[in-house]
Amino acid sequence: MIRRFKDERDVFFQRRFGLFIHWGLYAIPAWHEQILWRGKIKRKDYEQYVHQFNPIDFNPDEWIDYAEQAGMQYICFTTKHHDGFCLWNTQYTDYNVMNTPYGKDILGMLAEACHRRGFPLSLYYSLPDWHHPNYPNRGRHHEMFGPRPGDDQDSEKYLQFVRNQVRELCTQYGPIYQLFWDVNVAEFHDPSINEMVRSLQPGILINDRGPGPGDYSTPERHVPAGTEFHKPTEACQAFGRESWGYKEDEDYYSHLFIMQSLDRILAMGGNYLLNVGPKANGKFPEENIEALQKIGEWYHSVKEAFENTYPATDLVEKDQMNMTGHIVDRDEVLLTKRDNTVYVHLPRAPQSTSILLKPLDRLPKKAVLLNNQQELEARVDITPWAWKEKPHLRIRNLPVNELTGSVLVIKLEFDDSINE
Ligand code: GLC
Repeated sequence: MIRRFKDERDVFFQRRFGLFIHWGLYAIPAWHEQILWRGKIKRKDYEQYVHQFNPIDFNPDEWIDYAEQAGMQYICFTTKHHDGFCLWNTQYTDYNVMNTPYGKDILGMLAEACHRRGFPLSLYYSLPDWHHPNYPNRGRHHEMFGPRPGDDQDSEKYLQFVRNQVRELCTQYGPIYQLFWDVNVAEFHDPSINEMVRSLQPGILINDRGPGPGDYSTPERHVPAGTEFHKPTEACQAFGRESWGYKEDEDYYSHLFIMQSLDRILAMGGNYLLNVGPKANGKFPEENIEALQKIGEWYHSVKEAFENTYPATDLVEKDQMNMTGHIVDRDEVLLTKRDNTVYVHLPRAPQSTSILLKPLDRLPKKAVLLNNQQELEARVDITPWAWKEKPHLRIRNLPVNELTGSVLVIKLEFDDSINE
């Protein structure tokens, strides 16, 4: 069971699915959000994009519409990525959106729309900074290869800059749901920064990538091993295989792949932050809009399996032996549970039209496939392969040849509680 905070931060366990946005100057070259580093571009050349950034089609309400339609419950926005460019009206560097042809406070516009609509807003902030003269760029990972002429590398001064900027973010943009620090390459250790954030934004959640202890962990682009998380977790995943920022020739994951990872993470008790990299004009890529719709349709049909449930995969056996002692490649099953209701998640396509739930041996009063509301047959019996064993629960008639493009989730309602 995941430990709770026992304070207002417990809202974390209600907000399961969020929209991550990676947006900045890097949307112009449209290759990768770290094009400056991975593309070996000169800093002075990259910084010229500041004179081009003009997202005239940016409409924060449209972004929130897409998120809401997909069933997402919050948005996390890159206020400053590794390139150091700031998407808000900061007084601590000129390298910000006010000095672009666009000239408007993008974060302010997004925050206004979020607060007007009651849509929680989280902020991403990169600790590495490839622009600021005080950041100790030493060629470690996610860092520039060294200082520029005139740089004054000084971690103390840089942390003061971070503190000042984060204070702006926590005082000028209304309530902030989460602070998403990114990659603490320089291993800054200064818990007083998170303490300041908490005093300015009571109830805020802070991730585990910052300069002090955080509230939740952040596995990235993978599903950790196991069947349940033991501490608060928010996994993040991009639609694009290569980049978080907009990439013109991006290779996108299949809708099914995203549904599978989303289902696994949520069924393990984690939350899921799914990323879109808007184009330089502010629009979402067409591929992402379509994927959000498709994944959203699926999510709406099955989301009750995640709401106020907890991971309960321990109810079933991990491995099934056949009579010769060989482990039969078993169907991947994850369970979630609320009171007398058990949800069976099949994040991989089941092998056959039935699913066996050993050692459960009680009949549910109803078995329904949430994807299409189809009622399924449930039996408790002995199957020939397991003829020496006790009877166990079988759920039959899965439309495995029809519903091939999404993750199946079955709802089992029992008369009384199933004990673990
Ligand atoms: C990694 C990437 C970074 C991205 C982040 C999202 O740290 O380096 O570009 O913003 O993941 O979690």
